[in-house]
Amino acid sequence: MIEADGITKRYGDFVAVDDVSFTAEAGEVVGFLGPNGAGKTTTMRILTGFLPATDGTARIAGHDIFSDPLAARRAVGYLPETPPLYPEMDVTGYLTYVAKIKDVPRGQRKAAVESATERCGLADVHRRVIGSLSKGYRQRVGIAQAIVHDPKVLILDEPTVGLDPIQIREIRHLIADLADPEKAAHTIVLSTHILAEVEAICRRVIMIHNGKKVLDQSMAELTEAGESLEDMFARIILREEEAA
Ligand SMILES: Nc1ncnc2c1ncn2[C@@H]1O[C@H](COP(=O)(O)OP(=O)(O)OP(=O)(O)O)[C@@H](O)[C@H]1O
Ligand SMILES: [Mg+2]
Repeated sequence: MIEADGITKRYGDFVAVDDVSFTAEAGEVVGFLGPNGAGKTTTMRILTGFLPATDGTARIAGHDIFSDPLAARRAVGYLPETPPLYPEMDVTGYLTYVAKIKDVPRGQRKAAVESATERCGLADVHRRVIGSLSKGYRQRVGIAQAIVHDPKVLILDEPTVGLDPIQIREIRHLIADLADPEKAAHTIVLSTHILAEVEAICRRVIMIHNGKKVLDQSMAELTEAGESLEDMFARIILREEEAA
């Protein structure tokens, strides 16, 4: 569903993302880990077509992000670090607008907006203007805009940042539900600094450090090795820093 192949991003002499390749299957939830500045957001922005790569490419649901960017973009939903919300619009109006620019056919827009509203727990606030919502609810609107066109692939940049524990649990349930093979089986890549979140919902972990992929393993393999994710994270990052 996602095939990233040698993605590289340079800013002048600085290499923000260095030859990152990975694949993710339908129904898979992949956790993107790495210290601040590792290159997670940059990789995600490239996968979603918001930033051109310097080198390498990726296929999203079979569509190449370079040779077929429109189809690739249509197949992906993206929650950026700071979602582009319009504070003066109400929730339904905003989601309807996003559905329109994501090419959801006019006759299906209402149902698409209602479904995303329902799934993200926004039914009670759908007439409120976005600027008046709490941070957690705005984050939910950010997730709703990512799923409104029912994309096969979801790229979520720190989806639970700033949420309260109850909302975090709800968003995790939502993510697990979106990936459920019995239902829509979305492919989801999410970045987070909360390691417990990875343990709770991710089937695979990809760790990035200084732009390079330094780990790509299934949660099952990691659990079997008996080391906590926190210890493993610290061990790998310290090892990489010593080697640098
Ligand atoms: N426009 C730019 N010009 C130069 N350097 C940039 C630019 N955008 C990002 N970078 C650098 O690329 C590196 C990777 O940044 P990125 O935002 O991808 O990290 P991240 O892993 O998402 O970090 P965080 O956990 O803090 O969100 C950083 O060193 C950042 O300063
Ligand atoms: Mg980031």
